[in-house]
Amino acid sequence: MADFLRLGVNVDHVATVRNARGGRHPDPVHAAKLAIAAGCDGITAHLREDRRHIRDDDMARLKAEITKPLNFEMAATDEMVKIALATKPHAVCLVPEKRTERTTEGGLDAAGQKAHLRPAVQAFTDAGIRVSLFIAAQHAQIEAAVELGAPVIEIHTGAWCDALADGNTAQAAIEWNLIKAGAHFAKGLGLEVHAGHGLDYASAETIAALPQIAELNIGHFIMGEAIFDGLDKTVKLMRAAMDRGRKKAVS
Ligand code: PXP
Repeated sequence: MADFLRLGVNVDHVATVRNARGGRHPDPVHAAKLAIAAGCDGITAHLREDRRHIRDDDMARLKAEITKPLNFEMAATDEMVKIALATKPHAVCLVPEKRTERTTEGGLDAAGQKAHLRPAVQAFTDAGIRVSLFIAAQHAQIEAAVELGAPVIEIHTGAWCDALADGNTAQAAIEWNLIKAGAHFAKGLGLEVHAGHGLDYASAETIAALPQIAELNIGHFIMGEAIFDGLDKTVKLMRAAMDRGRKKAVS
């Protein structure tokens, strides 16, 4: 029997909608509380350098007010490391960040940026904050996470989800095989394996069948669906999709 698969809900896009008008509504902290009440296992928020959605005050309020673990997504810059150390979240997820991108478009180049990432990984480890690296499911990146001493990786599922959405089944099969092999390889090296980016009900159900994966982090689809169905129902339907998938997992 595979272990329980956790659902982390990313509330960034509640803040995106709020910021479109300024002011305080809709509040990402309120969304986080509703998602927790609906049964998610943690909340993720990304404090970007340009503060385009989540703001410093949101992160502080999330930490103070939510009753489930907070996963602080961030670029490994001096500014963000300082804020995250002061916030003391349950976990940080280090991601690449470019001002011009619409979202986190590619995985972190952990293999090519070891010298840059090492002090941040060390600082969080010393502070007792679990570190995850958001990387592509490539052996070199996974091995770099081990070398850096990060206990967790989050596999970037964006290319797979894009291929599925485009109906490009050949590319989707290639990306899926990379994810499957990467999850297996990483778990074999002793890493905890998470996954996320672009997941919807169908892809979450599919990936939930990989027993090596311990957590999915999902934002855009959940917040988009919540416009039609409400956040409570959407989180519950996502949970159900993940549970259906996990039942198919063969350890
Ligand atoms: N995990 C990480 C590390 C991310 O950067 C993102 C996007 O912010 C997600 C998960 C969630 O992706 P999506 O919003 O497409 O579900």
